[in-house]
Amino acid sequence: MTDSITLTTYQKSNLEKIIISTPDSVSGIVIGGRWEAVVRLLPASNVIIVTDTNISGIYGKRFPRFPVLKIRPGEDSKRLKTIESLAGKLLNSGIDRSGFLLGIGGGVVCDITGFLASVFMRGIRFGYVSTSLLSQVDASTGGKNGVNLGETKNVIGTFRQPEFVICDTTMLRTLPDDEYSSGLGELIKTGIIGDRSIIEILEDNYADVLKRNRDILSVLVAKAVRYKASVVAKDEKESGLRRVLNFGHTFGHAVELHDGVKHGFAVASGMMLAATFSRNKGLLRDDDFNRIMHLLKRYNFPTEINMDPAKIESLILHDKKKAGSDINFVFIKGFEKPLIKKIPLQEVIDFYRQNLKGN
Ligand SMILES: NC(=O)c1ccc[n+]([C@@H]2O[C@H](COP(=O)([O-])OP(=O)(O)OC[C@H]3O[C@@H](n4cnc5c(N)ncnc54)[C@H](O)[C@@H]3O)[C@@H](O)[C@H]2O)c1
Repeated sequence: MTDSITLTTYQKSNLEKIIISTPDSVSGIVIGGRWEAVVRLLPASNVIIVTDTNISGIYGKRFPRFPVLKIRPGEDSKRLKTIESLAGKLLNSGIDRSGFLLGIGGGVVCDITGFLASVFMRGIRFGYVSTSLLSQVDASTGGKNGVNLGETKNVIGTFRQPEFVICDTTMLRTLPDDEYSSGLGELIKTGIIGDRSIIEILEDNYADVLKRNRDILSVLVAKAVRYKASVVAKDEKESGLRRVLNFGHTFGHAVELHDGVKHGFAVASGMMLAATFSRNKGLLRDDDFNRIMHLLKRYNFPTEINMDPAKIESLILHDKKKAGSDINFVFIKGFEKPLIKKIPLQEVIDFYRQNLKGN
């Protein structure tokens, strides 16, 4: 646990700024403003933008006037070879240690930009315009940056905070429907483990949430960021408490890479299993369990998981969160009551085997 990390929140009309201060960094997350204002946060020169081709197609004309490096959209880009290729381009661009990387994109662009900025010349400055719901509510807060290796997610990475993150919820209007749903999956996760008012808003404002109402989304994103930042402030390097954020992720990460399922859908499946596991162990009451299932169903997450049970074992074995023959599994005892328990890996695998339908 780190006591020297502090969290400050400023609110001005519709704009909220959450500041995470660590001994060697200050990271400001701004929710509710216009993304074009990013130009005010950038140095006058020596800036390079990293984005993907989807984002540059939609927003590129309005980017600040700096060189742009584009990656292919999607999880496949989260590989060391992308980092190597981008680092070569940075070198050719003449950028030096005082340079600044601006990532404009979803979780993939943020992870790549953060990792690249952490290792290039042993670390240069960076910040994000976070463009997907998933990255606004989760990926761009907290300073974890990583790429995948083989079938293991995010196993090569760093902890380093971006100087700023801008979350402009009007950008979510151009997000494809399935990507928007994927972000809702992570939002529901945060509501379950950390802030039940998120669950209430999602239950009570279904139509507006689906319409991507800017104001409701800004409230939801701010709540999610506030919760995540509070957890990160207490445990930046994931030595304890931060693991609660992995609720639904043991299974989620396995299916995400293996089956190419989008992150939030994979997490939603993982949450269903983790909630069932929690209920079976007598930790979670039936009414809380039913409320979670009802909400997931309402937002169209599949309630049945088809996966060859034989595959799950090797995938879970690859999960970097396992410690020897045990695993730190995140259960829930109710809303806002996550519980990390070290249990035998075999127990998790047996549970999955019993609860997965073969395909
Ligand atoms: N570092 C962390 O702490 C952390 C936490 C959670 C998730 N993640 C990672 O985040 C990644 C998933 O993030 P994601 O869901 O944002 O994926 P993504 O970055 O691949 O974005 C999803 C798709 O939406 C497009 N897109 C993004 N914003 C858009 C917009 N405003 N308009 C139109 N299209 C847009 C992208 O081009 C892409 O095709 C995963 O790799 C996951 O591991 C990281």
